[in-house]
Amino acid sequence: MPSTLPDGDPAPADGALPSSALRGLGERPFGVYVHVPFCATRCGYCDFNTYTPGELGTTASPESWLEGLRRELDLAAGVLGSAPPAETVFVGGGTPSLLGVDGLTDVLDAVRDSFGLAADAEVTTESNPESTSAEFFAGIRAAGYTRVSLGMQSAARHVLAVLDRTHTPGRAVAAAREAADAGFAHVNLDLIYGTPGERVEDLRASLDAVLAAGVDHVSAYALIVEEGTALARRVRRGDLPAPDDDRLAESYELVDSVLSAHGLDWYEVSNWASSADARCRHNLGYWLGGDWWGAGPGAHSHVGGVRWWNVKHPARYATLLADGASPAAGRETLTDDDRRIERVLLELRLAEGLPLDTLDDTGRANASDAVADGLLDRIALAEGRCVLTARGRLLADAVVRRLT
Ligand SMILES: C[S@@+](CC[C@H](N)C(=O)[O-])C[C@H]1O[C@@H](n2cnc3c(N)ncnc32)[C@H](O)[C@@H]1O
Ligand code: SF4
Repeated sequence: MPSTLPDGDPAPADGALPSSALRGLGERPFGVYVHVPFCATRCGYCDFNTYTPGELGTTASPESWLEGLRRELDLAAGVLGSAPPAETVFVGGGTPSLLGVDGLTDVLDAVRDSFGLAADAEVTTESNPESTSAEFFAGIRAAGYTRVSLGMQSAARHVLAVLDRTHTPGRAVAAAREAADAGFAHVNLDLIYGTPGERVEDLRASLDAVLAAGVDHVSAYALIVEEGTALARRVRRGDLPAPDDDRLAESYELVDSVLSAHGLDWYEVSNWASSADARCRHNLGYWLGGDWWGAGPGAHSHVGGVRWWNVKHPARYATLLADGASPAAGRETLTDDDRRIERVLLELRLAEGLPLDTLDDTGRANASDAVADGLLDRIALAEGRCVLTARGRLLADAVVRRLT
């Protein structure tokens, strides 16, 4: 979750949604996101809404968070009325694996008790390599989780050190194997490329390690120097160089060529999967305009064109819910044009691309120019879809600006 919340309208204290948002609920994909706002230590590049024990003190705890979560999910089930069972659940963070098997079991039970789970639900938890073990994976598999996403970031010790990661270079791959041994058919590894000091051979070694792990999904992100982080301060002081755009583009090309040569194809600009089944259904719900309830401090939700976001601090979150109030801090109703622009922004990043008829007249004319510039695929456009070329993927944000 981003650290800055958008301005918006105040959200009603009971969390009620307009009937227009509830119309068609169940006809669109429905997912539940649970935000776990705890980390053992803070990585210098990260601006997610997460807190170390030292930052929280006695103001909040995993217990008060879980109590708040149960109350929010009950409130959510009431607000959505005849909501369908969750087709996808994504427990993200922060560091969900810090909750251990018992905590993650309690989280999933709370989702089952409120919305219910579809029979073939995809249930993912993010996990940090250092807070997992073979027993951990066996326990969460038995609890009903079906997918694990591990933050690997790099296989190079000096890169992990710049990122303040506390696991050893080999631990993420070992964890991925333990997850597979525990029966997880779907395992993702997250990589970050472009860290100051990362050499081409470091990235190659990370990709080799990913391939050796035998996972069916990889997410690879260019390092973003987020304002307000320790990394941003180090870059500003000149202690570390800022990531270089040309190097980032070369790194992306290397990631894509190595993964695709080994059967992992891109299906979103930063995501690769070994088959259609291996794609993350929960994230596809976000990208394809589905409905989701985001529970937990700072979590964002979207139902039928209404978007809202929760208060960020775990103590405030727990207090509001203990008082019977919604934890929402603000919300906005998207106009038709907002929704169209959002579709362009998200669907253009998918390998299936964006239907051409989503664009207005100027956007359509610019799409033809983007083909001429080698950014959109010519054949796909002739068939009525805007699909990024390999070069277009490197410049996806600029292509979006031309089409909206
Ligand atoms: C916020 S983390 C949560 C999962 C878990 N705590 C972890 O660190 O693996 C999810 C992923 O976001 C990515 N990420 C976070 N901050 C980033 C940044 N500033 N630049 C690029 N990727 C980032 C990392 O790859 C990370 O694995
Ligand atoms: S462990 Fe993950 S969520 Fe926590 S600070 Fe590091 S990157 Fe952010």
